[in-house]
Amino acid sequence: MEVTLIKWNKSLKDELIRICNSVDRSYLSGRIPDPYTSESADWWLGMVAEHDGVDGLFRAVAVDGEVVGTISVEQKGDVFCKDAEIGFFLLTEYWSKGVMTEAARQICEMAFDELDIIRITGLVYSPNRASQRVLEKNGFETEGRQKNAIFKNGSVYDACLYGKLKK
Ligand SMILES: CC(C)(COP(=O)(O)OP(=O)(O)OC[C@H]1O[C@@H](n2cnc3c(N)ncnc32)[C@H](O)[C@@H]1OP(=O)(O)O)[C@@H](O)C(=O)NCCC(=O)NCCS
Repeated sequence: MEVTLIKWNKSLKDELIRICNSVDRSYLSGRIPDPYTSESADWWLGMVAEHDGVDGLFRAVAVDGEVVGTISVEQKGDVFCKDAEIGFFLLTEYWSKGVMTEAARQICEMAFDELDIIRITGLVYSPNRASQRVLEKNGFETEGRQKNAIFKNGSVYDACLYGKLKK
């Protein structure tokens, strides 16, 4: 099984729509439109074209050439400008095979090389152990917990804060 990252571009629009409409959203923010339409994809691909390599990296996650997820590192603004936030999701049938751990390894290396940042932040809902493990296995350290910070689908969760510093 080979995990590769592909820069999101217009030729991957159908794959983008497919994965965004299939992903388990239990522990994702409401930022991703639902349903994810052709217009949603056009807007996002335009944003990526403008920002990729400038203040963010946005990659499709492919397994043996098939797009099965997405991962990004987005630089913050103002006094947080040397920090960037990582985000990712994967189609359910590919979970627990090490795919996102490898994708996160690759994008963190690229982000520290290509972006003007000194740390990467991960913010994970407390029950989302799989996501926490992906970060822990990539050298992210637990930095704190914002109690009751998240309200999603009628449930309240803590937000777990993770950080990885540039070496
Ligand atoms: C989070 C997500 C990307 C993980 O991707 P993945 O490729 O399955 O992750 P990996 O296989 O690389 O690693 C998962 C780890 O979590 C563990 N894990 C998986 N489900 C778990 C669970 N319910 N409880 C505890 N650990 C769990 C696996 O055992 C593995 O750890 P290990 O190697 O120590 O055994 C995937 O579950 C997903 O897309 N979830 C929905 C979207 C989401 O929550 N995104 C993150 C938002 S911060």
